[in-house]
Amino acid sequence: MVTTQDDNRSNIVIIGFMATGKTTLAAELSENLGMEYLDIDKIIEENTDMKIWEIFEKYGEGHFRQLEKKTIENLNKSQNIIISCGGGACLDAENVNNIKKMGKVVLLEANPATILSRIENDTSRPLLKDRAKVAEIKKIMDERRDSYDKLADIIIDTNGKSVSNIIDEILSELSL
Ligand code: S3P
Repeated sequence: MVTTQDDNRSNIVIIGFMATGKTTLAAELSENLGMEYLDIDKIIEENTDMKIWEIFEKYGEGHFRQLEKKTIENLNKSQNIIISCGGGACLDAENVNNIKKMGKVVLLEANPATILSRIENDTSRPLLKDRAKVAEIKKIMDERRDSYDKLADIIIDTNGKSVSNIIDEILSELSL
């Protein structure tokens, strides 16, 4: 876990595995705190006029990762916003540095079974396409766990909790 004394960091960055509720929580938190929120994947979709899965299909994951990196870099000077990152954003060292500089990092966690129940009828995530099984999800999650944990200022377990409970927990952990 990263602990920081830097009180000037005004943004809240939400990270975590696919389908841990990052976008939903970021939107809800944004309303709660009256802060604007931005979603990295949404910015990429708007800028390219393509869905994430289309970018993967047409240009490959490497190209998507470049777009993701540029988008994160461009948010470097942001103040007082909530930023939701795609699940793979914190696997890259430059992204990690940029995200750390942006603000307090909130890691959302969920069990593989919870993730599976959320993505079963969702085809928008290319990395889980044809891999929607607890064992597959656990494997990718285990590979990523260290990267997530290292970057997180606070870790929130979302299993079995309502959105409002999770929001309360985040606000309390961030002393807001
Ligand atoms: C990815 C997660 C996705 C999206 C892309 C890659 C990942 O975002 O960025 O499909 O590598 O975990 P969500 O975490 O919002 O699903």
